[in-house]
Order: sequence, then structure tokens, then C-alpha cells
Amino acid sequence: MKILILHGPNLNLLGTREPEVYGSMTLDDINKKMIELGKELGVEIKCIQSNHEGALIDALHDARMWANGVVFNPGGYTHISVALRDAISAIQIPVIEVHLSNVYAREEFRHVSMISAVCKGKVVGFGWRSYELGLHGLIDIIKP
Ligand code: DQA
Repeated sequence: MKILILHGPNLNLLGTREPEVYGSMTLDDINKKMIELGKELGVEIKCIQSNHEGALIDALHDARMWANGVVFNPGGYTHISVALRDAISAIQIPVIEVHLSNVYAREEFRHVSMISAVCKGKVVGFGWRSYELGLHGLIDIIKP
């Protein structure tokens, strides 16, 4: 089984970016945790981050050729990107939406997600563990 962990804009700054909201772990720390967990669970993990919408769309298109599913934190694009939603609909592999922060306890514009309706599931508010929970849930969905 192969899974893509996909991170959107500004998540490369984790660790120094608003640590009171997003925690003190860096993106590299989170990726290492996911790769370790993948090893424990017998799943191959590939991690990609981009600040560019088109690159995220390309990564989703590519994933349909090699991955069984995607754990996706689209960052700020969550709230505005019809194009990312269309990409998720198009690829027909399960995608889990994850957010470090509890977006529903924050500004109203973060309560809207363009992608939730086309994702298999969603995890918010557990810090880096949102990725861990999302990965477990995704594997459960994929496994026969
Ligand atoms: C985020 C929440 C988004 O609203 C924000 O724009 C981000 C990070 C999260 O993981 O909590 O960049 O996706």
C-alpha cells in the first residue's frame, strides 16, 4: 500500500509559524512521524509540500497513478479552491482532509471547506496527530 501525505501553502513554515495555533513541530518532524508510522503499519509513505495550487493539483493527478490514497492538508486553499475540489473528485482514490487547528473555533471564513464534500473523511484540531488519525482512518478505508 502506498499513501501520499500532501501539505499545502505555508505549512513549510511549521515550527515557527504561529506555534500557539499550529504547534512547535516542523513539517520535517511531522513527515518523519508519518514515515515511521507507515513502516509500523507496512505502508509506503511519500510526503510532498507546495505553496502553489497548480503543483498541488499535479501531485493529486500523479497520485492516481501510484497511490492508494491521500492525506491532504490544503492550508488556506481549503477555503477557496474549486480547482482542488475538482482534482479530488477527478482522481477517484480516497482523500482524507486534515487540519492541525480546529478550524471551527477560528475565523468564520475557515468554517467553509471547498473540499470536505468530496473527501472520504476529515480530521481537525489534533495538531500533528490530525495527520496520524487521518492516516489510520485512510488505511482502514483502503484495506479489504
Ligand atoms: C490549516 C487551517 C487553515 O485555515 C490555514 O489556512 C492553514 C492551516 C490547519 O492545518 O489548521 O494554513 O489547514
